[in-house]
This record gives sequence, C-alpha cells and structure tokens, in this order.
Amino acid sequence: MARLEAIAADLTRRYGYRPIETPLFEQVAVFERGIGEVTDVVEKELFRLAPRSEEKEAWALRPEPTAGIARAYVQHGMQTLPQPVKLTMVGPMFRYDRPQAGRYRQFWQFDVEAIGDAGPAIDAEIIELANRFYTEAGVPGIDLRLNSIGDPQCRPAYIAELTAYYRDHVADLPPLERARLERNPLRLLDSKEPRMAVINVEAPKITDHLCTACADHFDGVRAHLDALGVAYTLAPELVRGLDYYTRTTFEIFPAGETGQQAAIGGGGRYDGLVELLGGHPTPGIGFGLGLDRVLLVTRLAEGAADETAPLAVVVSADPAATADRLVVATELRAAGLRARADLSTRKLGRQLEAASRDGAHFAVILGADAAGGTQLKDLKAGTQRVVAAGDLVKELERAARTHHHGLGEAAKR
Ligand code: HAM
Repeated sequence: MARLEAIAADLTRRYGYRPIETPLFEQVAVFERGIGEVTDVVEKELFRLAPRSEEKEAWALRPEPTAGIARAYVQHGMQTLPQPVKLTMVGPMFRYDRPQAGRYRQFWQFDVEAIGDAGPAIDAEIIELANRFYTEAGVPGIDLRLNSIGDPQCRPAYIAELTAYYRDHVADLPPLERARLERNPLRLLDSKEPRMAVINVEAPKITDHLCTACADHFDGVRAHLDALGVAYTLAPELVRGLDYYTRTTFEIFPAGETGQQAAIGGGGRYDGLVELLGGHPTPGIGFGLGLDRVLLVTRLAEGAADETAPLAVVVSADPAATADRLVVATELRAAGLRARADLSTRKLGRQLEAASRDGAHFAVILGADAAGGTQLKDLKAGTQRVVAAGDLVKELERAARTHHHGLGEAAKR
C-alpha cells in the first residue's frame, strides 16, 4: 500500500495536483445530496453514526471522497483560486456490504479531482493519469470503459423512455428495482441483480439520446484520448452508481474481467455537484481508484513484503551477547540501512536460520572471527568473508546499491 501511495503522490505532483484531507465523517446530508438518496451507496452501504440526543445533525463515515471535497471547495471559497482547482487524496473509505474478495467495509482509494474546467481536454488528461497509475503500479493490462450519460438538457427525455421500457417489464423486476423504477430508473441499469442483466440488454441506450452539446463534448473527449494514444472501449450501459455524474463516465477493469466487483477504478464528470452543495455552478471531473483491488491484481503485496525484509540481521557466536548485536544493528540503522538484531539467546545456527526465514540478504556475524573482524555472510549467495568492523556500513551500503549481486561479486574478486 505504501508503494502505491508513493506512486500516486509522485504522479499527482507531476500533473499539478495538491493534496487535500477531508474528515472521515461528514453530515449525512452531504452524501445524500451529493451522491443521491436513491443509490446503493446511500440507501444500503452508508455507515451512519448513532445520533447523540443533543445533536441535530446526522453523521456518516465517508463512502467516497468526491462529495466531501466538493463540500470543502464550497466551504473554503476555492472558487476564488485559479481554476481548475486540482486536488488529490489517498485514504480509507467505508461502505457497509457483505465483505468478500475485493469488496471490503473499509477500503483505500486514490482519488483525483479537477474542479472548475468544463473540458473535454481535461477529461482526457485525467483518464490518461489514471491509466499511467496502473502502468506504474504494474497492473498487467486494463480495459478502460467509457461512456457519456448526458446532462440535464438531454437526460430527462432519455429517462422517460427508459422508464417506459421498464414499465413494460415491471412484472419481471426484482422488488428493490421495482421500488426504484419511479424514483431513479437509471439505477436499474447498473443493478447487481442477475435477473436485471437480461432485461437491460434491450434497454434504450443513453448515447442514442445525447443533445448536441453533450455529443460534441463526448467527441472531444475521444479525440483527445486518441491524440494521447489511450485505448478505451465504448460502454453505453455504463451509468455508474452515484447520481452526481454528468456527461463523461468511465470505469477501469483488469484486462479480461468485467464484473462490477472487479472494477479497479471509476470516475467521471460532475458538473452539477458543486451547485448542489451550495456553491456557484462549477464543472468538475475526477476518479477514484480502489487500491486494495489494485494490490490484488498486481500481487504488489509480495513485493511490499520483500521491501520490509531486512538487508542484514546481526547475529553472534555468543548467544548471550545481545548488547553487542543491538549496538551494531543500531549503527547500521543510524546509517540508514534496514537492519535487525537477533535479540534471542539461541545458538548461532538458530539465529542464522531465523535470519534466512526473515528474508534477510546478509547476516552480520559477531565474535566468530579470531582476528577480531566481522563475518559478513551473503545468505542468498551462500558466500562469506571477513570485514573490518569500521568497513561494515560501507560494505553493506555498497551491497544494497548493487542489490542482489553485491557481495557475491565482491567475494569472488
Ligand atoms: P466508485 O466507483 O464508487 O467511485 O469507487 C471507485 C473505486 O473504489 C472502485 O472502482 C473500486 O476499485 C473501489 N471500491 C469501491 N467500493 C469498494 C469496496 N467495498 N471494497 C474495495 N474497493 C472498493 C467513487 O467512489 C467516485 N468518488 C469516483 C470519482 C471521483 N468520481 C469522480 N471523482
């Protein structure tokens, strides 16, 4: 996770985004108004905090960061800053759901928001940034799915047509979907109910109903993505699960996977959100990438474990000499090296075994050399040699730089 965070921090700095921190909990109204009351995230997945008797406001843990960031934009007068205001965050989000592989109640998102630019060039810039994150994180391949869901000009007519279509199938709708039909028919398009998949195949498509302004914007996004060489698949069924979206929406899957569960990121434009939360009409676009899922697909977890393995473990022939071992390990750490002292009083053989199991590259063996030097054992290469006590830091630094071959090569010389 730390490695993914470092990649996110480096990328967003290069693209000109500034870090923002918002509270882990907000007034429920921010989520209800921003994300929409008739959404899974608010209806089913919000962790609501038990109200205290003296408090009028209701609070909930943040299920996503965009509503809170837009709230902060309004509250802190960010419309007076040069636009767009480009903000980024990495942090935990909370959604109540049945925990399962890749779906957690607390999960981490890398989030990016550009508020105050109507696009379409910035849409492409943001999508390319998401793309680059996956590349740098080592995701083997992605499928980027792209759509436009129109705006308040063209969506009402589409929604009317969609509602009529679902009314024709009302007898086949699962209970929750039937209840939502009149309140938010768009939600039926991304329903997780298996029965809905069949009904949705024939449903009218939003991209056949875009007004000229939205169609032009969508053409612009695609032209910019083409200019950048970013590949995408058009996905007219992609409406996303949050109500604030307008025009551009996108979702990213590991190559070859499409299930909602597998999405490693998603985002889109939200040109009405800032106004909805009490600000001036202000366009915005952003994305959120699920870092837990990115870890799952990259197996970076293994790489990260390696990174925490010590470069050297300090052991000694005298099982009782823990102070000597601690002193040497402390010197190595002070020099910036990853070192562990074996603080047990077990025999040397056992200390060495533990060092190997730990994934350590070297064992620094004290008190085993009659001439007073320190034995440096390369546990990976199986080589060993004597190093003068004063040279230990220098030798290990060099070995760390030349990585896995450092001492092996030196020992041969
Ligand atoms: P979202 O699609 O709800 O969008 O979530 C973004 C990503 O968070 C998902 O693609 C997935 O990788 C990850 N994710 C969501 N729920 C879970 C979970 N329960 N367990 C693990 N990972 C999960 C948003 O949240 C929007 N705020 C994105 C956005 C930013 N749109 C504009 N700006």
